[in-house]
Amino acid sequence: MSNYSIKNLEEYYQVYRKSIREPENFWEEIAEEHFLWRKKWNNVLSWDFSTPQIKWFEGAKLNITENCLDRHLINRGDKTAIIFEPNDPAEEAQHITYTQLHERVCKMANVLKDQGIKKGDRVCVYLPMIPELAITLMACARIGAIHNVVFAGFSAKAVSTRIIDSDCKMVITADGSFRGNKSIDLKGIVDEALQDCELVDKVLVVKRTNADVTMVEKRDVWLQPLMDKASSDCKAELMDAEDPLFILYTSGSTGKPKGMVHTTAGYMVYTAYTFKNVFQYKENDVYWCTADIGWITGHSYIVYGPLANGATTVMFEGVPQYPDFGRFWKIIEKHKINQFYTAPTAIRALAKQNLSFVENVDLSSIKVLGSVGEPINEEAWHWYNDIIGKGKNPIVDTWWQTETGGIMISPLPYVTPTKPTYATLPFLGVQPAIVNENGEELKGNQVEGRLCIKFPWPGMARTIWNNHQRYKETYFSTYENMYFTGDGALRDEVGYYRITGRVDDVVIVSGHNLGTGPLEDAINEHPAVSESAIVGFPHDIKGNALYGYVTLKETGESRVHENLRKEINQLISERIGPIAKLDKIQFTEALPKTRSGKIMRRILRKIAENDMSNLGDTSTLLNPEVVKDIIDQRL
Ligand code: WT7
Repeated sequence: MSNYSIKNLEEYYQVYRKSIREPENFWEEIAEEHFLWRKKWNNVLSWDFSTPQIKWFEGAKLNITENCLDRHLINRGDKTAIIFEPNDPAEEAQHITYTQLHERVCKMANVLKDQGIKKGDRVCVYLPMIPELAITLMACARIGAIHNVVFAGFSAKAVSTRIIDSDCKMVITADGSFRGNKSIDLKGIVDEALQDCELVDKVLVVKRTNADVTMVEKRDVWLQPLMDKASSDCKAELMDAEDPLFILYTSGSTGKPKGMVHTTAGYMVYTAYTFKNVFQYKENDVYWCTADIGWITGHSYIVYGPLANGATTVMFEGVPQYPDFGRFWKIIEKHKINQFYTAPTAIRALAKQNLSFVENVDLSSIKVLGSVGEPINEEAWHWYNDIIGKGKNPIVDTWWQTETGGIMISPLPYVTPTKPTYATLPFLGVQPAIVNENGEELKGNQVEGRLCIKFPWPGMARTIWNNHQRYKETYFSTYENMYFTGDGALRDEVGYYRITGRVDDVVIVSGHNLGTGPLEDAINEHPAVSESAIVGFPHDIKGNALYGYVTLKETGESRVHENLRKEINQLISERIGPIAKLDKIQFTEALPKTRSGKIMRRILRKIAENDMSNLGDTSTLLNPEVVKDIIDQRL
């Protein structure tokens, strides 16, 4: 079968049509030819979006780490699997071969077993971008434990919420992490988080910064001495196709974060196949995705997708501005990166810097440029295309979500002609639909509405951990028989998709999804605060920034307000993490409400955007007079 890598647009359309007409045959052929199965499936797909229940490759037995590691040992044993580029450019990069990675994963898997972790147990991973992070994921997968990675920029409270929700038994962390010229006390954050988590009885600690940390007796153990003693022989646990591989939390508009559950076989097939095609990865290429493994992008396109293809994948510990704004470009030159995958927020920040950062490096190794996480604006697209890609390297603007597991809409480089700000065409097997507010599908081209997916794909999340009802309500109840993405989109005259942004109360700030509900809950905990509403507004670099409208129990002077602003942001930082800071906080007498008492966020959004011409009819509000006050005092 030749369709593992699509070579031209005609082939794309041909294979796409097949993937829609006969989805089961399509995915079965891919699964059969490119993976290692211990037992084949009985049934390729069973699904029902009303329950919802989705199963791919049911009956199959496999282990994803045998697919990412063992099977490469014969032909690619000495090939570099991971290049680790440290935060400090003076520290030497590490090249870890497939043989070495396999050994370290097996040792770590044995350590986990020795420390009492069994198949099905949840393990919380709170680590910086160091090789142990990728190794820990696969060590869990090796023995069938379910990893729950929490991005190492989240606060203690965010960590404990996630540990409690998924009943983690163990935490794996580090003494600290390096980020630019700062170091962060990760272990201290874990210690604080664990005050609320009774179930965790073991903490494995990786030494990275050599910071002084307190080790709690019986609970905390340094990892390295255990690794030194561990056997490098660890049989892979036989997993069912639908056994959970990991949980990864994503914020929702309201309530607690949602623990999206991804399962083994479908996720593996989907991430591997999308990786191969969307990046057109060739055997000796070096691929770099700048995301953190704490997000789905890192799970799917730093670890599992690339390694399942036997690729060389780069892990970068640092930040784009350290030691200066030329760091990304220097890394591309140093490791001769062929595929570079980053976020619009990084592109915008780098595009603002002096061109000499780009001009003095050799970027000629690049073949493909990728973008992910939020809509890429026209200006950033052109800068990326012209300055970094020199007009000759295609940009793949990849639209997808934590929930989708892998890329859903994207050009295929050198196959799909690109168009600025367009994610272009659905990936093979993906059936998007644009629907209007009544849930009617808008057929044909040149339509705009809400983006849904009509048919299952192997990489989709199967449930929300411990809350299948919420899974159903969030994704399968807005529109009948369709997965609702929460995004708006349009389809142009040739069938290309452009994602227009979230249509719910999620704001994407610097590529991070932030539900406004949980942020408001945090603010409302402040003793002086009566009520709050948070909306997004356009920001040059971050894409969106947060604007908070806050009413106080008692009104005070402006001096008090300044302190309050700090305290409110401090609270948010404690409850969620520093990534969720509000750029503007406006204190107001009241919030505009409907007669039924609902806050009219649409109006507040328009005011924050400084778009007063489109406020709509405010006369039906319960308190129309507050709108004028809010406009007058707008920040
Ligand atoms: C939301 C999902 C996908 C991994 C990283 C984000 C937005 C993502 C694009 C894109 C326009 C995009 C959507 C989506 N988004 N990629 N190429 N163009 N918007 O995963 O944190 O689950 O966020 O990010 O709004 O729903 P996530």
